[in-house]
Amino acid sequence: MKRVAVLTSGGDAPGMNAAIRAVVRSGVLRGFDMVGVRNGYAGLLAGEFVPLGPRDVGGIIHEGGTMLGTSRCPEFETSIGRDQACEQLRQRDIYALVVIGGNGSQAGAAALNGRGMAVIGIASTIDNDLYGTDISIGATTALDTAIEAIDRLRVTAASHHRAFLVEVMGRHSGYLAAIAAIAGGAEAVVVPEVETTPEAIAQQLQASRDRGKSHAIVVVAEGAAHGVDELSSYFHEHQERLRLDLRVTRLGHVQRGGAPGVYDRMLATRFGCAAIERLAAGEIGVLVGLRNGSISTVPLAAAAGHAVPLDLQLLDIASALAT
Ligand code: F6P
Repeated sequence: MKRVAVLTSGGDAPGMNAAIRAVVRSGVLRGFDMVGVRNGYAGLLAGEFVPLGPRDVGGIIHEGGTMLGTSRCPEFETSIGRDQACEQLRQRDIYALVVIGGNGSQAGAAALNGRGMAVIGIASTIDNDLYGTDISIGATTALDTAIEAIDRLRVTAASHHRAFLVEVMGRHSGYLAAIAAIAGGAEAVVVPEVETTPEAIAQQLQASRDRGKSHAIVVVAEGAAHGVDELSSYFHEHQERLRLDLRVTRLGHVQRGGAPGVYDRMLATRFGCAAIERLAAGEIGVLVGLRNGSISTVPLAAAAGHAVPLDLQLLDIASALAT
């Protein structure tokens, strides 16, 4: 019986558990011997393997996080670490490895594949910045969480006639910020992909006040060149002129927790089942994602080497509707 291992790696994302469940249950149905690797690539290096059957993945579809644990593992980024990981897989007689994770994790998967291991990736990151998929596991739930927070902030912003700078995650990508700004009805959005200045944001807020708005929400991506700290200092320095009663909220890791919504449960389930199907059909070295509503794959090597540009039309929509 061929043995297939599954691990989750990098930042956890709501829906990872649903993906593990789908991989394990459909793997068993396909006749594979399924094992989990605890704590991502760190656990792989340490040989933390655990047998997984259908009952072991019961009662997790609705849970955020990952039952297997995850890690960021600098050791695995070295050539020695990657050789060691291959050795662990060979010693345990692992036929194939399923890697559920984002950019760094899939780069690792590509590296293992390049060393002759059979690896298949599943697109999972709240950042939604993976090449080869329109959407990745966790992004939608993270956005729902951000939107809930923004809706609440708008209530208090309106009561006090204040401006809020709301920092959202996304690492180098402005995707979460752009969507949160549109869906949260923000007055402005700041993303890494577009150059701006604190003064330009201040002007936008003043223009918004001139149009009769008594409060404002500015969504700021954590990777933006002028982040919430810099913007906040600038607005305070120019307080006399700008007259903004300003508050800052960092949503941070709150966006990573929480139960996955139905979209992420379904996406993760489809990705997990598809990964096993592709594996059974002999398709390896690919990342499983979604393109135009259908399951699709791209070579892991391509996914690892590509940055995903932000759809700038999103920013046009955000700005047009902030009037
Ligand atoms: O990649 C997911 C993500 O949440 C990013 O948005 C963020 O920059 C990063 O992970 C935070 O990483 P950590 O949990 O290691 O602090």
